[in-house]
Amino acid sequence: MSERLAIHGGAPVRATVLPYGRQSLDDADVAAVTRALRSDWLTTGPRVAEFERRLAARVGVAHGVAVSSGTAALHAAAFAAGLGPGDEVIVPPLTFAATANAALYVGATPVFADVHADTLTLDPVRVAEKLTPRTRAIVAVDFAGLPADVDALRALGGPAGARLIDDAAHALGATLRGRPVGALADLTVFSFHPVKHVTTGEGGVVVTPDESLAVRMRRFRNHGITSDASDRFSRGEWHYEMVDLGFNYRLTDVQCALGLAQLDRLDAFLARRRAIAARYRAALAEVPGVALQRVPDEADHAWHIFPILLELDRLAADRRAIFAALRAEGIGVNVHYIPVYWHPYYQRLGYAKGLCPVAETLYERLITLPLFPAMTDADVEDVITAVRKVVDHFGR
Ligand SMILES: Cc1ncc(COP(=O)(O)O)c(C=O)c1O
Repeated sequence: MSERLAIHGGAPVRATVLPYGRQSLDDADVAAVTRALRSDWLTTGPRVAEFERRLAARVGVAHGVAVSSGTAALHAAAFAAGLGPGDEVIVPPLTFAATANAALYVGATPVFADVHADTLTLDPVRVAEKLTPRTRAIVAVDFAGLPADVDALRALGGPAGARLIDDAAHALGATLRGRPVGALADLTVFSFHPVKHVTTGEGGVVVTPDESLAVRMRRFRNHGITSDASDRFSRGEWHYEMVDLGFNYRLTDVQCALGLAQLDRLDAFLARRRAIAARYRAALAEVPGVALQRVPDEADHAWHIFPILLELDRLAADRRAIFAALRAEGIGVNVHYIPVYWHPYYQRLGYAKGLCPVAETLYERLITLPLFPAMTDADVEDVITAVRKVVDHFGR
């Protein structure tokens, strides 16, 4: 007889709920922010440029442009790529809505291409089927921290001038064939939301090897204006010109102070995330009813999140029931992601369900387990115990 589940009145594995993600802030982070607050610069100042420089150097790219969120970074990348009405942008459906929304922000059309059933990243074969003369960009998503096969996507060719954009919100620190994520695409987007590898509260950076794209994005984040206030101040000038319709997407010096302090800890964060993921993979690999994301040998995964895939034919329950049972055990599981075009907004735009059957089937099977650097070994074991307990109960 399997153990009585908490959802059926048994004792939960944990008394308090373990969240799926959480920031790790220490005294050095707090001290760095305090120094910034006491300095002359609250918004665009020296720490913004330093954060951009350090982040770009970390991923081996010449230019970094800091903006107020990963979403703003996707918008800036779409703008810099020159996307607009009539242009098609190929995106995977298994992502946060912002990936596809960025195409809509600039008046372009998202075209959904399906993902691989095992790596959960954009499938180049499905992308090839969606290429048309109007394709102006492919946006890959490094799902959970696993780099999409951008080399295969680039090899597809596509119309001249089409840009490859990497939504690497999950993948700071990942590598593919020995090259860092950031150095693989024309434009790569990172997010610094608190659950990500490093945080600035809210924030994002776009990195690019192309200086002209960086110049466009710097203007775009600052209302489309040709210089910023600190430049004008230092040159003793008041004149500026607005040449593009930009936004106020500036990241502040205070946030970049936090980002710089967090970057000092990126290697430690990555090491801990990888150690937790390795423990999960070893413990869950042979559990009947659970499958894991395939990690190709040529990729070094950054483990932003840890997805498991339920083998529903081996379980007498669906994902909703297993999710609820894990929550009752005190495990703050989550689901990444509802296929983007299933959202009511996209349904109103006319995207039909059934468009990407692999992603839709995956969605019914996916559960995200807690993963963040401050998890203790005991927390990790609690998650494993709870997954085994619940899956064993519903196993058939
Ligand atoms: C794949 C992906 N793209 C973009 C974003 C948007 O980033 P932000 O929350 O910083 O706007 C997220 C955030 O969760 C994400 O997971």
